[in-house]
Amino acid sequence: MSLEHHLIQASFDAAAQQYEEHAILQRESLTRLFERIDDDLKTPPAQILDLGCGTGWAVPEFLSRYPEAQIIAADFAERMVQQVPKHPQVSPRVTDAHAIDIHAQSMDLVFSNLMVQWCDESTVLKEVKRALKPGGLMHMTTMGEHTLHELKLAWQSIDDQPHVNEFVPAAKLADLTLQMGFEDVIADSEFITMTYASVIDMMRDLKNIGAHNVDNNRPKGLTSPKVIKQLTKNFEEFRTEDGLYPATYELVYLRAKKPSDDKGLSVRIK
Ligand SMILES: C[S@@+](CC[C@H](N)C(=O)[O-])C[C@H]1O[C@@H](n2cnc3c(N)ncnc32)[C@H](O)[C@@H]1O
Repeated sequence: MSLEHHLIQASFDAAAQQYEEHAILQRESLTRLFERIDDDLKTPPAQILDLGCGTGWAVPEFLSRYPEAQIIAADFAERMVQQVPKHPQVSPRVTDAHAIDIHAQSMDLVFSNLMVQWCDESTVLKEVKRALKPGGLMHMTTMGEHTLHELKLAWQSIDDQPHVNEFVPAAKLADLTLQMGFEDVIADSEFITMTYASVIDMMRDLKNIGAHNVDNNRPKGLTSPKVIKQLTKNFEEFRTEDGLYPATYELVYLRAKKPSDDKGLSVRIK
């Protein structure tokens, strides 16, 4: 596991207790992803994997829709997994999405809300494909390339360090998914803007939900009051009519099917 990977894990572990209180965007994304699943799934899935499940917010949603389903709620942050709702049909599992501890070809649906942006997409897609039964479906959300563009621009005149993570464009993600051998791939995106009373509130929120920059080249240490002042000034052009500071997220939805005649790739090749 790389240092960066450890940092992401540690950051989500640390954020686990206060996660739900702050994860407004994640909740909204979860609701929208379920609307798509409701439209798409013709038969109830018997075996579901929720990859990067966090505190298990999706679990009650699955149980109310598919009362017979068996659900594996998987995340690499142990303190997140500890909060997954207890239920006889739910198996919480601490595992990394890059090497999922799960039987090959065992899942009807792999679901993932806002996890894959922290990962190596190709490795995760390969693992998802291994986990899916032939004909099984994947439904994910992730962050698109235009995410936090206001914050990125506001930092630009201050320094040229990476302050916002770089996210893969939706079209590139769709290409990658096709290359991995999935079919019926659909990738599209929507913008969601959250507003804050101050730039400090915005940055605190990003930290609380474990969404701050973990790039290896990121600037270390606290942002000084002088820099916050400059950042706030640079944000002037983006302020909303009611004087709030916006953070816009590009929410990418990725849907794909494992071909029904794909019986291969049951072994993980390193
Ligand atoms: C933004 S949270 C979303 C949680 C949940 N899906 C939800 O909708 O509330 C992202 C989650 O992905 C998990 N995660 C990130 N990278 C992961 C990886 N490589 N393997 C497993 N889980 C990972 C984090 O620990 C965190 O719980």
